[in-house]
Order: sequence, then structure tokens, then C-alpha cells
Amino acid sequence: MRTKLFLAFILIILLALFSNVVFERLIMTDFDEFLMGSDEDRIYWIMASVEGSFEDGEWYGIKLNEALHWGLMLGFESYVEDIKDGMIYSSEDVLASMEPNMVKRMKSFLKLPSGRGEYTWYPLYSRGRELGKLYVRPLERIGRIPIKEEIFRRRGREFLVTSFLIAGGGALLLAVLFAIYLSRPIRQLTISAEKIAKGDYSVEGKISERKSRDEINKLKESFNYMAEALRREDLLRKHLTSNIAHELRTPLTIIRGNLEAVEDGVISDPQAVFENIKDEIARIITLIEGIEDITRAEASFFKKGTALALDLKEFVESIAAGMRKIVEEKGLHLRTEGPPLTVLSYPEKLHIILKNLLTNAYKFTREGEIVVEWGKVSREDVKGFHLTVRDTGRGMTEEEIPNVFNRFYKGAESGGTGLGLAIVKELVTVLGGEVTVQSSLGQGTEFIVFLPIQ
Ligand SMILES: Nc1ncnc2c1ncn2[C@@H]1O[C@H](COP(=O)(O)OP(=O)(O)OP(=O)(O)O)[C@@H](O)[C@H]1O
Ligand SMILES: [Mg+2]
Repeated sequence: MRTKLFLAFILIILLALFSNVVFERLIMTDFDEFLMGSDEDRIYWIMASVEGSFEDGEWYGIKLNEALHWGLMLGFESYVEDIKDGMIYSSEDVLASMEPNMVKRMKSFLKLPSGRGEYTWYPLYSRGRELGKLYVRPLERIGRIPIKEEIFRRRGREFLVTSFLIAGGGALLLAVLFAIYLSRPIRQLTISAEKIAKGDYSVEGKISERKSRDEINKLKESFNYMAEALRREDLLRKHLTSNIAHELRTPLTIIRGNLEAVEDGVISDPQAVFENIKDEIARIITLIEGIEDITRAEASFFKKGTALALDLKEFVESIAAGMRKIVEEKGLHLRTEGPPLTVLSYPEKLHIILKNLLTNAYKFTREGEIVVEWGKVSREDVKGFHLTVRDTGRGMTEEEIPNVFNRFYKGAESGGTGLGLAIVKELVTVLGGEVTVQSSLGQGTEFIVFLPIQ
């Protein structure tokens, strides 16, 4: 990943530098064209002079000499060809007519004879009549003008090198920094994934928080979610296997003891033995059902189901109605209390939560009443509702309270599996809520479930 990012950056840098080269080339071409353009101007000047030396139907030698002389001064070797008589005058004739001193001076800034390149010809006219042709070719120049040209070209090359160094070097540095910065979360993800693969699920939150909602951040969120799911799965598996083994051992040992007694013929009341065995088998079945329930509650962490509009009053009263008979048979009173309230929630889960709390209240209360209350509440700006189950039962000791939500924890007179409140806690968490307990020994217990309105 890091290498790929880095290569991508290098490619971009090379493209940028390539565009620099193209840019420099274009400037140089423009410059060459500019120079050529000024050459053209000079040639037209010479042409005009040559044409000016044709007067009254004939060439004026002195003027012609002057025109080509100027031609030399302007950096051109040239000769004039008359339409009828052929070549009539050339730069060489000019040089021959000049004093040696003048020739010397001219040679100080022009390379003479240079004989460089092909001649180009231009037609000569006078009053609409064609006179002949002017042949011209540039002379190599020594001195001021070429030096300026050379300086300009050198500056161009320097510009290219400097931009290579500044842009290339800067971009390279940026590329390295970006590659490291962009690939860091991916590296963290990789490290965390490797840890998970080795069975270490404690990676949640270790991937640094980034505020933006970019793809990497979303990936990180999904990853943390996955890590949390795996951690829960792993914990659940570990707990369940050890607890199940423990919980199964007791009834199975009792069953085996009873069967061995039958085998040894030391049983006086076989009917009681069978009842015993049946009870223990029933315990095992309840345990398995409990495990199924908690596994289902765990699994709903991954699949919440659909929230439905729920008339809370109607919902609570119908569940209470189902329990009223056995509650009253025990001499207890069951009361429901709350405003008409419609919430968006998950009735199936809510049903399991309430049923477990009510069963406990019924189980651990000898006299008095069981109350179910509900209503709207807001907690730390989260709008929701509460479901409270209160009883006047045996209550709990301070030591017992922190354990009640643990799987397989059960107090005296439980007769159950100790999974009920663990299931409640699991489901409430899945729904994004919270469950709390208050209890005092001999006074009674109150469970408050807070759930956000979905
Ligand atoms: N309303 C209550 N009053 C007093 N003690 C309670 C109450 N509710 C729960 N407890 C204590 O918490 C323990 C755990 O409760 P939980 O519902 O998880 O298991 P259980 O009722 O013992 O078994 P299960 O619900 O699986 O049949 C109980 O055994 C009991 O000691
Ligand atoms: Mg219970």
C-alpha cells in the first residue's frame, strides 16, 4: 500500500516535471521564432535598399555597394541577381571594395567568410517590374547579440534545473509524508487484523480516531464493529462452555447416582427415583432453553429486527394479565401504572425483558405487591422511556447486587439457571439502553430499564 501510494506520487511528480520540460521547450521555440522574425525584418530592410539602388532603368553601383554593405553589418551575406544579366553584385565585392581596416573591424563581430547554410532568395521589384532576386544567408555573429541569446537560453536551462530541484524535491518530500500519513490507518488496521487472527480481540479503539467521514474512517468503524462482534462471540463461547459444563455436571451426576442405586438394587421407592431423574432432566432442558435464549439475544447484536410502533400501556397490561392468576394465587397483588404512550421499539425483545423481570419479582416475593411502571424520560439528551418492575420481596444483600446480571449467577431459592437477568442485560444493551437495580434486604427490589425511543 505504502509503496503503491509512493509510486503514484512519483508518477505525478514526473508528469509535472515533464510538463516543465515541455514548457521550457515551448519558450525556447518562441524565442527562436522571435529571433527569426527580427531576421526577416532586417532582410526586408536590405531588400528595400537594394531596390532603391535601381533608378532610371539601371543599377547604381555605389548604392548597391552600400545596400549589401548594410547587409553585412546586419549579419547577412548576400548577392544580387539581375533578371537578365545574372549575378551583378555580392558581399564579396563589398569586402573587396572596403579598406583593410574596415574589413578587420567587421570581422571582429562577424565570422567572415562563414559560408553557413543555404541561400534564400527574395524577388526584387521596381515600379511593378521584376528586377531580379536577392540571395541572402545569415552570417555567424560574434559578440553582443549572440551572447544575449546564449544568456537567455542558459537562463531557460537554469530555470528547468531549478524547477526540477525545487518542485521535484518538494514534491518528493510531500510524497513521502503523504504516503506515510495516508497509509498509517491502513497499517493500523493490518496490525489489528493480525492481532485478531491470533485471537487477541482487545483491539477496539486502538485505531486512531479521525474526525472526517472519509472511506478510511468508515472502514475503521466497520473494522471496530467487526472486532467488537468477534470479541463478544469469543467471550460468549468461553463463558458458555465453562458454565454449561459446570451446570450440566450436577444434574447428570444426580441422574447417574440414582441409576446406579437402581442397578445395585438398594432402592426402596423406585417411583421417587424416577421423579428425581425426571426433575433433573427437566433442569437440563431448562438450562438448554436458557442457553438458546441467551445465544439468540447475543445474536440480535448483529440483527436487530424491525422496530414497531407500540402502545406501551396495552403491551404491559397484556403481559401482566398473563401472570396475574399465578401472582394472585400466591397471595400477591400485581399493579400496572403509566400514561398512554406509544413508542417505536422491538416488542419481541421487550416482551422477554419484562417477562424475566416479572418472573423474578414473583419468585422472590412472599407477600405484598409487584408494580410495573412506565413513562417518558430523557437522559443526557437521549429521549426514551422507562419500564420499572418493583417488588416487596426478599431483596438482596450489597454483595449480591453487582452479580445479578452475570451469566449463571443465582441466589438462594432460585431454582432456575441464573440466565434470566443476563438475557435482560444483553437485550437492553442491544437496544442501546441501560438497566439498573436498587434493592435492600428484606424490603424489596426495583429494576429500571431505560430504552431510547428508536
Ligand atoms: N426481584 C428480585 N428479588 C431478589 N433477588 C433477585 C431478584 N431478581 C433477581 N434476583 C437475584 O438475582 C439472581 C439472578 O437472577 P436471574 O433472573 O438471572 O436468575 P434466576 O432467576 O435465578 O434464574 P432464571 O431466571 O435463569 O430462571 C437470582 O437468583 C436472585 O438471587
Ligand atoms: Mg430469573
